[in-house]
Amino acid sequence: MNSKNSDCAAGFQQEFRSFATDAIHVGQEPEQWSSMAVVPPISLSTTFKQYGPGKHAGFEYSRSGNPTRNCLEKAVAALDGGKYCVALASGLAATVTITHMLKSGDGILCMDDVYGGTNRYFRKVAAEIGYDISFADFTNLEVLKAALKPNTKMLWIETPTNPTMKIVDIQACSDVAHEYSKNIIVVVDNTFMSAYFQRPLALGADICMYSATKYMNGHTDVVMGLISVSREDLYEQLKFLQNALGGVPSPFDCYMCNRGLKTLHLRMKQHFKNALAVAEFLEADPRVEKVIFPGLPSHPQHELMKKQCTGCSGMITFFIKGKLEHATTFLSNLKLFALAESLGGYESLAEHPAIMTHASVPENERMELGISDTLIRLSVGLEDEEDIIADLAQALSAAKPKPF
Ligand SMILES: Cc1ncc(COP(=O)(O)O)c(C=O)c1O
Repeated sequence: MNSKNSDCAAGFQQEFRSFATDAIHVGQEPEQWSSMAVVPPISLSTTFKQYGPGKHAGFEYSRSGNPTRNCLEKAVAALDGGKYCVALASGLAATVTITHMLKSGDGILCMDDVYGGTNRYFRKVAAEIGYDISFADFTNLEVLKAALKPNTKMLWIETPTNPTMKIVDIQACSDVAHEYSKNIIVVVDNTFMSAYFQRPLALGADICMYSATKYMNGHTDVVMGLISVSREDLYEQLKFLQNALGGVPSPFDCYMCNRGLKTLHLRMKQHFKNALAVAEFLEADPRVEKVIFPGLPSHPQHELMKKQCTGCSGMITFFIKGKLEHATTFLSNLKLFALAESLGGYESLAEHPAIMTHASVPENERMELGISDTLIRLSVGLEDEEDIIADLAQALSAAKPKPF
């Protein structure tokens, strides 16, 4: 650990040692190429010549292993403080691959507020083929304990949750699960935080996964999933499934994501700085009902956030005053923010979870979780702070509820 964090990270865990150096150098050694290329080449060949039957230089067929993918996987494992990583074609491909480690009849206990696509996959696909899926609020450890069952084999955590930004105590939940049974695999979807702000493997989790489509790549031009582990047995299973299920990313996408990682630390620091400024602006604005940003002291789990993370990403949720029409008018009037799904890129995005990303979550559940019609999710990008705030201010003015 060292103390290079900027001011907005004061009170948070200190930055992980040598993070930037690892992002730039691990897995990237020029000596691995006969050309001594400093930047890993995009290795498009689907097959690799063997010296004799079964005698090869480490690669046989590109689904089983690819040189460009290798560079990315090594870098990500280092950034997660893990030993191994497998890259998949999307975040959901990573979720499916992890789930295939279990057998039909095994129980998956999932945090109640997760990405809509994760919820849909567990409910509408995994449950249909015989997995026993249940949901619980892991922010209450007693609720978690009561929800564990003899067949529970996997705990699925997302923190901060999407979009209500609840914080799950990874260490406490991992301890509860592992005390109940050593065979429970604790998975953390680390998409919202990136490896720069949160290291689930160091907090007791067995698997750290990402939709790398978001912060890890960070440039809104790659769909990808990543899974990091330290345990060799889990790696062997995941590596087998990566090949056996075949949901692998293209060499070009691996190159792009590997490149994106080189500036992850710089991007995340700026996302945090901009998001904190936006959260403070929104919290002070009378047209806003409530702001949920874990970097604000008003967030009920701000202390937990500071304990388990090195900072906060650019994700902010807020409730606009009024009704659905005020939320939609606000969103339609944004100029610099694009009204779009996804998050974690250099550009600012805004969306309406009830209509967009979380439409697949049943309505009664959305209501229970607080995903109301006035809830708006922002992914604060890397533009100039004053331009971001000016755009929000003018859209809030356009949406202001009229006095009776
Ligand atoms: C938190 C989280 N996990 C998983 C996913 C799924 O990832 P992908 O879209 O790369 O399949 C997403 C996508 O939005 C997400 O936000």
